Amino acid sequence: MADSMVKFMSGEYVPLEMHKVRVVQKLTLLPVEERLKSIEGAGFNTFLLQNKDVFLDMLTDSGTNAMSDQQIASMMVADDAYAGSASFTRLQEAITEVFNKKYFLPVHQGRAAEHIISQVYVRKDNVVPMNFHFTTTKAHIELAGGKVNELFTDEALKIKSSVPFKGNLDIAKLKNLIAKIGKEKIPYIRMEAGTNLIGGQPFSVQNMRDVRKVAQEYGIPIVLDVSLIGENIYFVKLREEEFKNKSVKEIMYALCDLADIIYFSSRKVSCTRGGGIAVNSYDHYLAMRDMVPLFEGFLTYGGMSVREIEAMAVGLRETLDLDVISHSPQFIKFLVDRLDGKGVPVVTPAGGLGCHLDAKGFLPHVSQLEYPAGALASALFIISGIRGMERGTISMDRDAQGNDVPSELELLRLALPRRVFTLSQIKFVEDRVTWLYQNRQIIGGLKFVEEPKVLRFFVGRLAPTTDWTKKLVAKFKQDFGDNL
Ligand code: F0G
Repeated sequence: MADSMVKFMSGEYVPLEMHKVRVVQKLTLLPVEERLKSIEGAGFNTFLLQNKDVFLDMLTDSGTNAMSDQQIASMMVADDAYAGSASFTRLQEAITEVFNKKYFLPVHQGRAAEHIISQVYVRKDNVVPMNFHFTTTKAHIELAGGKVNELFTDEALKIKSSVPFKGNLDIAKLKNLIAKIGKEKIPYIRMEAGTNLIGGQPFSVQNMRDVRKVAQEYGIPIVLDVSLIGENIYFVKLREEEFKNKSVKEIMYALCDLADIIYFSSRKVSCTRGGGIAVNSYDHYLAMRDMVPLFEGFLTYGGMSVREIEAMAVGLRETLDLDVISHSPQFIKFLVDRLDGKGVPVVTPAGGLGCHLDAKGFLPHVSQLEYPAGALASALFIISGIRGMERGTISMDRDAQGNDVPSELELLRLALPRRVFTLSQIKFVEDRVTWLYQNRQIIGGLKFVEEPKVLRFFVGRLAPTTDWTKKLVAKFKQDFGDNL
């Protein structure tokens, strides 16, 4: 089935799960006063919440996806060995089959791949052009002395849009940049599939071809982050005419063949842990190879357990199944379209990864220097037990002068881990976000009370600038009584 959304008698299209649930985990929904205490204890940072206090964990899709029965089964036949494990050979075969790349370097997760790629290729004052940055990517490029240059199209940052490929890289901007700084300063061009920070938005195969053309002209390699490739492929199949009748594998090859180096976080793409780098050129392989035993572990495990390696091999093959990769974007579309229909500001068109609430539109009365997306994340947790992730100004570190850098997009991401939630849970999200929108005037800002210098969003602690959280609890109780 090309698209497993089913038409109901009402005319509405509803996502239909092409799997059944065979293992479950009990959830609890704490009373609202306890949720307030819990977020206070977490310094108004959803990363610091205890998962036992969370009802729906929509912080991320990283490492929180449901594995398939085949993945769990494969873990039982893992071959324990420090070197030369048969599990690793099976993973290598899967890498070649799925990504059409010959050589593979295993690492413990996606950012470890970024660490190796940046340390090997980025020199001081180099510039890495890309469609959009990801937090860990930028941090690693800067650690190596380089800079990130984002060449997104004008449409990428528009909240309301019907452009199918907001993740495209602007080719004219790429040519201008090369003309301005010279190809010698550019170690590689990075493309991120399912562009995370602009709302899980895809790029087209045509755009990747155009990037390739320019890259080839100047002899610049392309690095492709395939952590979110499954969803990007789903959108290519749905939205790019040429690929309507192509298989997932054909689209995967079309994209990966245009890149010199691919890397991924398996926490996303294969519903396991771990990560890796894959290339066809032996020179690239050799250039990076020795970093693996130094930082990750021996070449045949790279910091992963053999059980994770087995499950990764199966999980990667499963990304070639349209039913597997379409599930989460369809749930996201269901939620995004319903919220959009009620006037709640959300990033459109619906992308992969999650539903992204536009905190600037939601809370225009909260200045970006009081972190509207962070405030919205805390407010939503208080009134629902739903844990989202701030993707706005808190996620930007301060500049060299110590000033806050207002983020172009100020988003609260509600991630949809793959195959984890039911449709009634998603309807609960819709209901509580809508209530919050109707009561948005109550929500105020946040300020830092403990602020790390790098990647401050992970463990920084904040506090409300006024007593708005108490007012929010009072209004919630007035409307819902003791019901949840
Ligand atoms: N690239 C992309 C596109 C990502 O989304 C992530 C992680 C990474 C690289 C780094 O991988 O976490 O395995 O080290 N994204 C997570 C998220 C953290 O919540 O979006 P990692």
